[in-house]
Amino acid sequence: PRFTIVDQETCIACGACGVTAPELYDYNDEALAYHILDDNQGTAKIPEDLEDDALDAYEGCPTDSIKIADSPFDGNPLKFE
Ligand code: F3S
Repeated sequence: PRFTIVDQETCIACGACGVTAPELYDYNDEALAYHILDDNQGTAKIPEDLEDDALDAYEGCPTDSIKIADSPFDGNPLKFE
């Protein structure tokens, strides 16, 4: 299983992730991205059929704000950095 979270400190609201992976990422009132499935806590497993979308979003984010890991983030985007 894989997990994903957005670092909203570095997200510049570019809007790419929600286009690449609309079932995983949406935007809050400030247009900052968040992971839909767990309210951006990084604790919900990415559904297998969406893993490719998550990886595409990860690679496409201009500020490296999309984080992906094999373990839950527990709300901390920088947990594994
Ligand atoms: Fe933000 Fe990166 Fe998405 S800058 S809007 S997390 S593609």
